Amino acid sequence: MDKLCIEGGRALNGTITVSGSKNAALPILFGCILAQGTVRLSNVPRLRDISTTLKLLEILGCRTTFEGNEVTVRPEKIVPEAPYELVKTMRASVLCLGPLLALLGQAKVSLPGGCAIGARPVNLHLSALELMGAEFELDSGYIYGRCDKLKGAHITFDFPTVGGTENLLMAAALAQGETVLENSAREPEVVDLANFLNAMGAKITGQGTSIIRIQGVSSLTGTDYRVMPDRIEAGTYIVAGVITGGEVVIQDCPFQELDAVTYKLREMGVWLEEKDGCALVKRHGELVGVDLVTQPFPGFPTDMQAQLMTLMCLAKGTGVIEEKIFENRFMHVQELVRLGADIRLKGRTAVVRGVPKLVGAPVMASDLRASASLVLAGLAAQGKTEVLRIYHLDRGYENLEAKLAGVGARVWREKE
Ligand code: EPZ
Repeated sequence: MDKLCIEGGRALNGTITVSGSKNAALPILFGCILAQGTVRLSNVPRLRDISTTLKLLEILGCRTTFEGNEVTVRPEKIVPEAPYELVKTMRASVLCLGPLLALLGQAKVSLPGGCAIGARPVNLHLSALELMGAEFELDSGYIYGRCDKLKGAHITFDFPTVGGTENLLMAAALAQGETVLENSAREPEVVDLANFLNAMGAKITGQGTSIIRIQGVSSLTGTDYRVMPDRIEAGTYIVAGVITGGEVVIQDCPFQELDAVTYKLREMGVWLEEKDGCALVKRHGELVGVDLVTQPFPGFPTDMQAQLMTLMCLAKGTGVIEEKIFENRFMHVQELVRLGADIRLKGRTAVVRGVPKLVGAPVMASDLRASASLVLAGLAAQGKTEVLRIYHLDRGYENLEAKLAGVGARVWREKE
């Protein structure tokens, strides 16, 4: 396994370009299964989860290519089974359920395991698909789904689930009649999927609001589509510029989609401006700790919680962070404490008291965004930090070392 070594204490200065969004590209890739024809995607990040998904699409009967950041997917003879070997490495594989049921009327998908941040059940996906006429059996770790022809339904989610909304958008695109999704997720990645499906001929309106309407159509064509930039990657690099006391320009930054994050950063005392599609970021004067609660979009995103916690470790005063989306998303806390942070946990609330400095040490990554927060801490800490098990990072950050080194960080990879 690799580890990432960071010589901290260097201010980052320069321009970082944001890659395509992992969490938009993944559902869009599964949406390609529905195409009668070839789909060409651009701005697809080169990440492990993307390669895993392309492998799964091949097993499901698609021909795929991946050159640079361009992907082509051509469905040929689609088969209904998504094997455990692949699904166990990536929970997002459950997003093939909706397309397989819509296209074939059957699906055999390994029940996605939990992960470090929580149990992550898919009950909301299944109960919504049942309202459209699907029947499910769970047997020896697999979800067996079948239906005649999915029928439009009026569905109200108990919780605005991102994956659940995405699965239902793809299922409803080819269903008979109209489907209404109430209390649906409003995340920008859900909007990107809906826009992609519409580019293939789907009839979806209301994406980005809590009520989405889908008029089923008989088939969808191939299309060309550019994946949106990754707002969480952008937010992570904004924090990298601030925590090191530098000045960075984040190119191709989805600024609007980061409102809740930029609001909190400004509340902490960060200077941020948008100019020609870029975010200009600099830190001047002392930062202060603030309170934040993670919520569904447009609230503060859970995927930025660990990164803001790291920044608060070096701010003046105290900040209280409440994680309301996942039950176990504080795995980074004890690792940050190893670097000298002062954080106390009480259930799903963390009280962060600012300290004057962090000191480098070996730390263990546990999940994608926790790993990112440890890299940010290492950039600001005095001395050398080693982040172990950085395969977690490779799932969500394209060319991380090169992007950081490009703005002056001293960061390199070693065998663990
Ligand atoms: C997506 O996960 C993202 N992953 C996550 O990003 C992100 O943190 C999450 O949305 C919330 O924004 C991808 O897009 C691939 P949910 P997803 O369904 O779809 C509960 C990252 O770091 N729930 O909105 O799994 C669930 O347990 C990853 O990039 C049910 O109880 O999120 C969780 O507590 C991490 N039953 C909450 O809802 C269900 O059927 C949010 O889940 C579905 C969800």
